[in-house]
Formats: sequence, C-alpha cells, structure tokens
Amino acid sequence: AAPILVAIDGPAGSGKSSVSRAAAEQLGFGILDTGAAYRALAWAALESDIDLDDEVLVAELIESWGYVTTLVGEPAIEVVLPAAIGVKGHDVTDAIRDPAISGQVSRVSKHPAVRDRLNEMFRRIVAESELPGVVIEGRDITTVVAPDAPVRILMTASPEVRAARRAGEMPGADHGQVLADIIARDAKDVLVVDFMNPAPGVTLIDTSELDFGQSVQAVIDVVQSAQSTAA
Ligand code: C5P
Repeated sequence: AAPILVAIDGPAGSGKSSVSRAAAEQLGFGILDTGAAYRALAWAALESDIDLDDEVLVAELIESWGYVTTLVGEPAIEVVLPAAIGVKGHDVTDAIRDPAISGQVSRVSKHPAVRDRLNEMFRRIVAESELPGVVIEGRDITTVVAPDAPVRILMTASPEVRAARRAGEMPGADHGQVLADIIARDAKDVLVVDFMNPAPGVTLIDTSELDFGQSVQAVIDVVQSAQSTAA
C-alpha cells in the first residue's frame, strides 16, 4: 500500500523540523526534510562556483543527484536525504545548517525549474517508501508537493518566539540579528510560496504557546483523527 502522507509546512523556527521528526518517530513513519534538499543544493552550487541566480545551471546540478535513505533511532525511522549530502565525499549535514547557507538558499529555491525537479524527486522518494507513512515537511508541501495528502498541517509561531528558538539552538547568537535574519528569509521565501496562511482544508497549529511535547502531540492528534475518520 502507498504510505500515508503527513504534509507539514511552516516558516523557520516554527518548530516544524524538530516536531516533525519526533512525530514521525512516534508514529513509526519516515521523515522527508525538503528544506535539507534546498540547502544541500545551495551548498553544492556554491562549492561548484555556479551562479546561484542561474536557473538553468542550478537545475542541472540536480540531475547528477541520487538520494540515500538511512535508518536512525529506536524504533528505526527512515530519514531521507539527498545524496548530494555526500557529494564529492563531503558530509554536509552540519554545513547546510550554517547561517551562511540559510542566507543564500532562497536564491536557489526561487527558481521554478529547480522546484519542479526537486518536487519530482520528493514524490518519487515517497512513492518508493515501504514504510506505513511518511512525514514531509517544507514550505509548499500542503499546496504543491502533496495537496491530496490525507493530513495537511501548517505550523506557525510568532516571529519573536521563532527567533528565540533559533537563537537557543545557536550558542552565542545575537537574538536581534537572528530575528532580523528570520524575517529577511521569510520575506524572500514568501514571494515564492505562501506558507503563512493555511490553504483550504489545512489544519493550523500555532506553537507560540506550546512546548515541544505539546507541539508533537498536536500533530499526532491531527494524524490520529484523520486515521479514525478514514477507518
Ligand atoms: O526548512 P528550512 O529552513 O531548512 O528551509 C531552507 C530553505 O529552503 C527555505 O528558506 C526556503 O528557501 C527553501 N525551501 C523551499 N521549499 C520547501 C522547503 C524549503 O523553498 N519545501
């Protein structure tokens, strides 16, 4: 059977990535972090000295990719990462989280040809998964990548809460700068896809007042209520 899809969109620092991972683990589902693919592509383009604003060249870079899946955690969950993460023998797992990449990634994610190719890759990864379900998280999953997913969630939080969380993950970071960076990146990304307002049928989860465990539970509740409706 095709895996059950749980589509989660939201801005940086909404808790989307860490909450999606924990929810997937509890559900025994895989997790597809689409932002990691955009980040890896920006990293690869910079590494190859390709102009990030050149749509054709950046899109062509994707052609040379495969993808890898790894099992982590107990119980094992499948984490799907683009194989570019290991391109040229570099492990860029940490490098793609660098603020330098966060600041440049919108330049590659704005290209329609890039988005079309990556979306095709995401859909193929999900279709080939043998897990009972996959959580896919990003910006346009509920609207473009998987608009027919049985579970679609938009996770948000206030900009101040998002900046505080991001700054908390980066020891020594200047909160004001982190807030300014988040606002600047969202402003660029939102020109390409609207991830601030839920599309019709999408469940809004605002995590501003929720702690981590409550946020994870909110996702699980939406998944379980969809499963009981379908049964
Ligand atoms: O989610 P994360 O912050 O890792 O995403 C990094 C960047 O990738 C975003 O700022 C955005 O430019 C791009 N992105 C996107 N569409 C997605 C996921 C990420 O454009 N589905």
